[in-house]
Amino acid sequence: MPHYRDDDRALAALVEPDQVHRDVYIDQEIFDLEMERLWARTWIYLGHTSQIPSAGDYLSVDIARRPLLMVRQPDGGVRVLMNRCAHKGAKLVSSPSGNTGKFFRCPYHAWTYKTDGKPLAIPLKAGYEGTRLSACPSGKGLTALEHVEVYRGFVFARLSDDGPAFSEYFGESLSSIDNMADRSPEGELEIAGGCLRYMHNCNWKMFVENLNDTMHPMVAHESSAGTAKQLWDGQPPDAPKPMAIEQFVPFVSDYQFFDGMGLRVFDNGHSYTGVNFSIHSNYAAMPGYEDQLTRAWGEAKAREVLGTARHNTVYYPSLTIKGAIQAIRVVRPLGPEQTLIESWTFRLKGAPEQLLQRTVNYSRLINSPMSVVGHDDLHAYRAIQEGLHADGNEWVSLHRDFRADETREMPCTVNGTSELSMRNQFRAWARYMAPGAVSGEKSA
Ligand code: FES
Ligand SMILES: [Fe+2]
Repeated sequence: MPHYRDDDRALAALVEPDQVHRDVYIDQEIFDLEMERLWARTWIYLGHTSQIPSAGDYLSVDIARRPLLMVRQPDGGVRVLMNRCAHKGAKLVSSPSGNTGKFFRCPYHAWTYKTDGKPLAIPLKAGYEGTRLSACPSGKGLTALEHVEVYRGFVFARLSDDGPAFSEYFGESLSSIDNMADRSPEGELEIAGGCLRYMHNCNWKMFVENLNDTMHPMVAHESSAGTAKQLWDGQPPDAPKPMAIEQFVPFVSDYQFFDGMGLRVFDNGHSYTGVNFSIHSNYAAMPGYEDQLTRAWGEAKAREVLGTARHNTVYYPSLTIKGAIQAIRVVRPLGPEQTLIESWTFRLKGAPEQLLQRTVNYSRLINSPMSVVGHDDLHAYRAIQEGLHADGNEWVSLHRDFRADETREMPCTVNGTSELSMRNQFRAWARYMAPGAVSGEKSA
């Protein structure tokens, strides 16, 4: 059995230009290395600033197995701290979100810290006189992350000092976040309501790959979306379409439709489907909304914002967004065969409330643990997770529309049913996982 930790060449050999070895999905050591080398060295999504509007508001989230706190500061800024008491290491807060007031107080021995992490007070402080505490890490308070970026309210952090700058990492792919925010006449998004948490018994990469996999909807979703289509078939063209029908039916569009959507890929594993149109393009217009956007942005920009209806954008490896429907899914890997998917919905500030209703309806029908579409995907992921243990073939095919020179010019746009998005993710994966063995490409 290979020991990948000390063998970059063995790691790099798991990714060939047009296929990947099954170990990338099932091996515990690979998963451990992913947390250290990929998830710690890249920009990972934590949360949205609208979730922490007031000073002292915090969100706690685990990234690459480190417990983190994203905290709103009295000056309006956002800091990200390690959720670890400087004394004996207890987590300072256990709830996913809340308000800590002016300081954090450890629940074990009551050491306190300002919201920027600086030490505030210790009970019976005289006991530390003459000790080395103030010179030790434990005397310095909470560890603050140095690499934090807020982009249109989306908060990303990079744990490691070693890694690319934010704008270099995401590049032009940030236009999908812009498109979602510009759909608000105020140019601002706001998280609406709580989170739909959906445990996936599969490797995190299966979920991320599937977001730009356009060869599966008409097959895997035939029983759900296909049934909705059958129910609706035969209705007169002017029959008022229920929102659920409007959202379900495009999932079972034909191969030609998904191929024509187009796929755009970027360096570092990012991509989106729906360059030309998408399953979200033909939703009914909301009364007054287009006029409102035209007043806010001018006619040309308003037309461009609404005419951009991308399908899924993958911000590799942690965030996937749907700008056209204002919904995001966040990837939280827990083990090689366990991944938590969080679904959040956004309100477009200043826009008609019916737009939020559309988003909420979509999240419930497609992405929630009670959805009828999400189960189809989860069944497929689970089937892969189990099927990969079979003998006779240790490789997963990513050959569809492969060209040897396909990444010579990046970013690039190709046909919507190409598996280039997945090959592109694995090229980034190999660069971060085995920088010593992947030559001729950008290093981490
Ligand atoms: S562990 Fe936090 S005060 Fe002791
Ligand atoms: Fe699907």
